Amino acid sequence: MIALVTGGNRGIGLEVCRQLAKAGHQVILTSRDEEKGQQAVDELDNERIISHPLDVTNDDSIEKVRRFVEEKFGRLDILVNNAGINYDTWQNAEQADLETVEETFNTNVLGPWRLSQAFIPLMRKNGYGRIVNVSSGAGALNGMGGGTPAYSVSKAALNVLSIKLAADLKGTDILINSVCPGWVRTDMGGKEAPRSVAEGANGIVWAATLLQGGPTGGFFRDGKRIEW
Ligand SMILES: NC(=O)c1ccc[n+]([C@@H]2O[C@H](COP(=O)([O-])OP(=O)(O)OC[C@H]3O[C@@H](n4cnc5c(N)ncnc54)[C@H](OP(=O)(O)O)[C@@H]3O)[C@@H](O)[C@H]2O)c1
Repeated sequence: MIALVTGGNRGIGLEVCRQLAKAGHQVILTSRDEEKGQQAVDELDNERIISHPLDVTNDDSIEKVRRFVEEKFGRLDILVNNAGINYDTWQNAEQADLETVEETFNTNVLGPWRLSQAFIPLMRKNGYGRIVNVSSGAGALNGMGGGTPAYSVSKAALNVLSIKLAADLKGTDILINSVCPGWVRTDMGGKEAPRSVAEGANGIVWAATLLQGGPTGGFFRDGKRIEW
Protein backbone atom coordinates (compact mmCIF):
# COMPACT_ATOMS: atom_id res chain seq x y z
CA MET A 1 0.00 0.00 0.00
CA ILE A 2 1.06 3.59 -0.64
CA ALA A 3 0.42 5.94 2.30
CA LEU A 4 0.76 9.69 2.72
CA VAL A 5 0.88 11.32 6.14
CA THR A 6 0.61 15.09 6.68
CA GLY A 7 2.64 16.69 9.46
CA GLY A 8 4.86 13.62 9.51
CA ASN A 9 8.02 15.25 10.82
CA ARG A 10 7.18 15.06 14.55
CA GLY A 11 4.67 13.94 17.14
CA ILE A 12 1.88 11.54 16.28
CA GLY A 13 2.40 11.89 12.51
CA LEU A 14 6.01 10.73 12.78
CA GLU A 15 4.94 7.67 14.77
CA VAL A 16 2.15 6.86 12.27
CA CYS A 17 4.80 6.89 9.51
CA ARG A 18 7.00 4.57 11.55
CA GLN A 19 4.17 2.12 12.27
CA LEU A 20 2.86 2.07 8.69
CA ALA A 21 6.33 1.41 7.29
CA LYS A 22 6.93 -1.31 9.87
CA ALA A 23 3.70 -2.95 8.69
CA GLY A 24 5.17 -3.06 5.18
CA HIS A 25 3.59 -0.01 3.56
CA GLN A 26 5.38 2.54 1.38
CA VAL A 27 5.15 5.82 3.28
CA ILE A 28 5.39 9.37 2.00
CA LEU A 29 6.24 11.39 5.10
CA THR A 30 5.26 14.96 4.33
CA SER A 31 6.19 18.12 6.20
CA ARG A 32 5.89 21.82 5.54
CA ASP A 33 9.63 22.24 6.23
CA GLU A 34 11.51 20.09 3.73
CA GLU A 35 14.64 19.85 5.88
CA LYS A 36 12.72 18.69 8.96
CA GLY A 37 11.00 16.06 6.84
CA GLN A 38 14.30 14.73 5.54
CA GLN A 39 15.73 14.70 9.07
CA ALA A 40 12.73 12.67 10.25
CA VAL A 41 13.18 10.18 7.41
CA ASP A 42 16.88 9.85 8.24
CA GLU A 43 16.01 9.20 11.89
CA LEU A 44 13.39 6.59 11.07
CA ASP A 45 15.94 4.85 8.86
CA ASN A 46 13.48 2.67 6.96
CA GLU A 47 13.83 2.34 3.19
CA ARG A 48 10.05 2.27 2.84
CA ILE A 49 9.79 5.93 3.98
CA ILE A 50 10.49 8.88 1.73
CA SER A 51 9.90 12.56 2.42
CA HIS A 52 8.11 15.20 0.40
CA PRO A 53 7.33 18.82 1.25
CA LEU A 54 3.68 19.63 1.88
CA ASP A 55 2.01 22.61 3.48
CA VAL A 56 -1.67 21.71 3.84
CA THR A 57 -2.69 25.36 3.59
CA ASN A 58 -1.03 25.85 0.21
CA ASP A 59 -2.78 24.75 -3.01
CA ASP A 60 0.45 24.73 -5.08
CA SER A 61 2.17 22.57 -2.52
CA ILE A 62 -0.77 20.13 -2.56
CA GLU A 63 -0.80 20.00 -6.35
CA LYS A 64 2.95 19.28 -6.38
CA VAL A 65 2.63 16.34 -4.01
CA ARG A 66 -0.43 15.06 -5.87
CA ARG A 67 1.50 15.06 -9.15
CA PHE A 68 4.50 13.42 -7.46
CA VAL A 69 2.35 10.59 -6.08
CA GLU A 70 0.48 10.07 -9.34
CA GLU A 71 3.67 9.97 -11.43
CA LYS A 72 5.76 7.87 -9.04
CA PHE A 73 3.15 5.39 -7.79
CA GLY A 74 0.00 5.89 -9.88
CA ARG A 75 -2.09 5.40 -6.75
CA LEU A 76 -2.64 6.50 -3.17
CA ASP A 77 -4.18 3.93 -0.85
CA ILE A 78 -3.93 5.67 2.51
CA LEU A 79 -4.22 9.36 3.37
CA VAL A 80 -3.66 10.36 6.99
CA ASN A 81 -4.73 13.96 7.59
CA ASN A 82 -2.71 14.43 10.75
CA ALA A 83 -1.35 18.00 10.59
CA GLY A 84 -3.08 20.16 13.18
CA ILE A 85 -2.48 23.34 15.15
CA ASN A 86 -3.62 25.64 17.92
CA TYR A 87 -4.88 23.79 20.95
CA ASP A 88 -5.93 27.24 22.19
CA THR A 89 -6.23 26.77 25.94
CA TRP A 90 -5.38 30.47 26.36
CA GLN A 91 -8.70 31.83 25.09
CA ASN A 92 -12.46 31.39 25.18
CA ALA A 93 -15.12 31.79 22.49
CA GLU A 94 -16.33 35.13 23.81
CA GLN A 95 -12.95 36.79 23.35
CA ALA A 96 -11.23 34.54 20.83
CA ASP A 97 -8.90 36.16 18.34
CA LEU A 98 -10.70 35.42 15.09
CA GLU A 99 -7.49 35.52 13.07
CA THR A 100 -6.32 32.58 15.15
CA VAL A 101 -9.67 30.88 14.55
CA GLU A 102 -9.30 31.42 10.80
CA GLU A 103 -5.74 30.11 10.78
CA THR A 104 -6.85 27.07 12.78
CA PHE A 105 -9.67 26.36 10.36
CA ASN A 106 -7.38 26.73 7.40
CA THR A 107 -5.04 24.02 8.70
CA ASN A 108 -7.34 21.71 10.66
CA VAL A 109 -10.41 21.70 8.41
CA LEU A 110 -9.55 23.05 4.97
CA GLY A 111 -6.21 21.20 4.97
CA PRO A 112 -7.84 17.74 5.19
CA TRP A 113 -10.58 18.91 2.81
CA ARG A 114 -8.05 20.06 0.20
CA LEU A 115 -6.03 16.84 0.51
CA SER A 116 -9.16 14.72 0.23
CA GLN A 117 -10.28 16.56 -2.90
CA ALA A 118 -6.80 16.17 -4.37
CA PHE A 119 -6.54 12.42 -3.81
CA ILE A 120 -10.08 11.01 -3.92
CA PRO A 121 -10.11 11.01 -7.75
CA LEU A 122 -7.00 8.79 -7.74
CA MET A 123 -8.57 6.56 -5.07
CA ARG A 124 -11.77 6.27 -7.12
CA LYS A 125 -9.71 5.34 -10.17
CA ASN A 126 -8.05 2.51 -8.23
CA GLY A 127 -11.24 1.53 -6.41
CA TYR A 128 -9.57 1.67 -3.01
CA GLY A 129 -8.81 4.23 -0.32
CA ARG A 130 -8.56 4.80 3.40
CA ILE A 131 -8.70 8.35 4.71
CA VAL A 132 -8.12 9.11 8.37
CA ASN A 133 -8.92 12.55 9.70
CA VAL A 134 -7.02 12.92 12.95
CA SER A 135 -9.58 14.61 15.15
CA SER A 136 -10.00 15.04 18.89
CA GLY A 137 -12.41 14.40 21.72
CA ALA A 138 -12.19 18.20 22.11
CA GLY A 139 -14.38 18.35 18.98
CA ALA A 140 -17.05 15.99 20.32
CA LEU A 141 -20.38 17.79 20.67
CA ASN A 142 -21.52 15.38 23.36
CA GLY A 143 -20.74 17.02 26.69
CA MET A 144 -18.79 19.87 25.10
CA GLY A 145 -18.01 22.71 27.50
CA GLY A 146 -16.07 25.97 27.12
CA GLY A 147 -12.42 26.50 26.26
CA THR A 148 -10.15 25.81 23.28
CA PRO A 149 -12.67 27.51 20.96
CA ALA A 150 -10.68 27.58 17.70
CA TYR A 151 -9.47 24.02 18.14
CA SER A 152 -12.79 22.51 19.28
CA VAL A 153 -14.83 24.21 16.56
CA SER A 154 -12.29 23.10 13.95
CA LYS A 155 -12.31 19.47 15.09
CA ALA A 156 -16.12 19.39 15.25
CA ALA A 157 -16.14 20.69 11.67
CA LEU A 158 -13.53 18.10 10.68
CA ASN A 159 -15.84 15.41 12.03
CA VAL A 160 -18.66 16.74 9.85
CA LEU A 161 -16.29 16.60 6.88
CA SER A 162 -15.66 12.90 7.59
CA ILE A 163 -19.42 12.24 7.60
CA LYS A 164 -20.02 14.21 4.41
CA LEU A 165 -17.17 12.61 2.45
CA ALA A 166 -18.11 9.13 3.65
CA ALA A 167 -21.65 9.74 2.37
CA ASP A 168 -20.30 10.91 -1.00
CA LEU A 169 -18.17 7.76 -1.22
CA LYS A 170 -20.87 5.31 -0.17
CA GLY A 171 -20.78 2.10 -2.19
CA THR A 172 -17.05 2.40 -2.91
CA ASP A 173 -14.14 0.77 -1.08
CA ILE A 174 -12.97 4.20 0.05
CA LEU A 175 -13.46 4.42 3.81
CA ILE A 176 -13.09 7.66 5.70
CA ASN A 177 -13.19 8.10 9.45
CA SER A 178 -12.31 10.52 12.21
CA VAL A 179 -9.95 9.22 14.88
CA CYS A 180 -9.09 10.72 18.26
CA PRO A 181 -5.62 9.61 19.39
CA GLY A 182 -6.37 10.41 23.05
CA TRP A 183 -4.22 12.80 25.06
CA VAL A 184 -0.70 12.17 23.84
CA ARG A 185 2.78 13.36 24.91
CA THR A 186 3.80 15.59 21.99
CA ASP A 187 4.59 19.28 21.58
CA MET A 188 0.83 19.84 21.37
CA GLY A 189 -0.22 17.42 24.12
CA GLY A 190 2.56 18.39 26.55
CA LYS A 191 4.65 16.30 28.94
CA GLU A 192 1.78 15.60 31.34
CA ALA A 193 -0.25 13.65 28.80
CA PRO A 194 -0.82 10.03 29.83
CA ARG A 195 -0.35 8.41 26.41
CA SER A 196 2.78 7.71 24.38
CA VAL A 197 2.91 8.54 20.67
CA ALA A 198 2.74 4.81 19.97
CA GLU A 199 -0.53 4.51 21.91
CA GLY A 200 -1.91 7.56 20.09
CA ALA A 201 -0.86 6.31 16.66
CA ASN A 202 -2.26 2.78 17.05
CA GLY A 203 -5.89 3.79 16.49
CA ILE A 204 -4.94 5.92 13.49
CA VAL A 205 -3.06 3.04 11.86
CA TRP A 206 -6.04 0.78 12.61
CA ALA A 207 -8.36 3.13 10.67
CA ALA A 208 -5.77 3.54 7.90
CA THR A 209 -5.67 -0.22 7.29
CA LEU A 210 -9.33 -1.23 7.64
CA LEU A 211 -10.39 -4.26 5.67
CA GLN A 212 -13.01 -4.05 2.94
CA GLY A 213 -16.48 -3.61 4.45
CA GLY A 214 -15.02 -1.82 7.47
CA PRO A 215 -16.69 1.20 9.02
CA THR A 216 -16.88 4.56 7.28
CA GLY A 217 -18.16 7.95 8.40
CA GLY A 218 -17.44 7.15 12.06
CA PHE A 219 -15.54 8.61 15.02
CA PHE A 220 -13.14 6.25 16.80
CA ARG A 221 -10.56 6.02 19.55
CA ASP A 222 -8.42 2.87 19.90
CA GLY A 223 -10.52 1.15 17.25
CA LYS A 224 -13.73 1.70 19.22
CA ARG A 225 -16.57 3.98 18.23
CA ILE A 226 -16.94 7.13 20.37
CA GLU A 227 -19.75 9.69 20.63
CA TRP A 228 -19.73 12.63 18.21
N1 LIG B 1 -1.29 15.43 21.22
C1 LIG B 1 -2.53 15.23 21.62
O1 LIG B 1 -2.79 15.02 22.83
C2 LIG B 1 -3.66 15.23 20.63
C3 LIG B 1 -4.96 14.92 21.09
C4 LIG B 1 -6.01 14.88 20.19
C5 LIG B 1 -5.78 15.14 18.85
N2 LIG B 1 -4.52 15.44 18.41
C6 LIG B 1 -4.33 15.70 16.98
O2 LIG B 1 -3.30 14.88 16.47
C7 LIG B 1 -2.65 15.51 15.36
C8 LIG B 1 -1.15 15.51 15.60
O3 LIG B 1 -0.90 16.19 16.82
P1 LIG B 1 0.50 16.21 17.58
O4 LIG B 1 0.20 16.15 19.01
O5 LIG B 1 1.43 15.24 16.96
O6 LIG B 1 0.96 17.72 17.24
P2 LIG B 1 2.39 18.38 17.08
O7 LIG B 1 3.42 17.59 17.80
O8 LIG B 1 2.19 19.81 17.42
O9 LIG B 1 2.69 18.23 15.51
C9 LIG B 1 1.87 18.87 14.57
C10 LIG B 1 2.36 18.55 13.19
O10 LIG B 1 1.52 19.24 12.24
C11 LIG B 1 2.36 19.93 11.34
N3 LIG B 1 1.72 21.08 10.70
C12 LIG B 1 1.17 22.17 11.28
N4 LIG B 1 0.71 23.01 10.33
C13 LIG B 1 0.97 22.42 9.13
C14 LIG B 1 0.75 22.79 7.78
N5 LIG B 1 0.14 23.95 7.45
N6 LIG B 1 1.11 21.93 6.80
C15 LIG B 1 1.71 20.76 7.10
N7 LIG B 1 1.98 20.36 8.36
C16 LIG B 1 1.61 21.19 9.36
C17 LIG B 1 3.57 20.33 12.19
O11 LIG B 1 4.65 20.72 11.36
P3 LIG B 1 5.83 21.73 11.90
O12 LIG B 1 6.82 20.86 12.62
O13 LIG B 1 6.37 22.33 10.65
O14 LIG B 1 5.17 22.74 12.81
C18 LIG B 1 3.80 19.02 12.93
O15 LIG B 1 4.45 18.10 12.11
C19 LIG B 1 -3.27 16.91 15.27
O16 LIG B 1 -4.26 16.94 14.30
C20 LIG B 1 -3.87 17.12 16.66
O17 LIG B 1 -4.93 18.05 16.64
C21 LIG B 1 -3.45 15.49 19.27
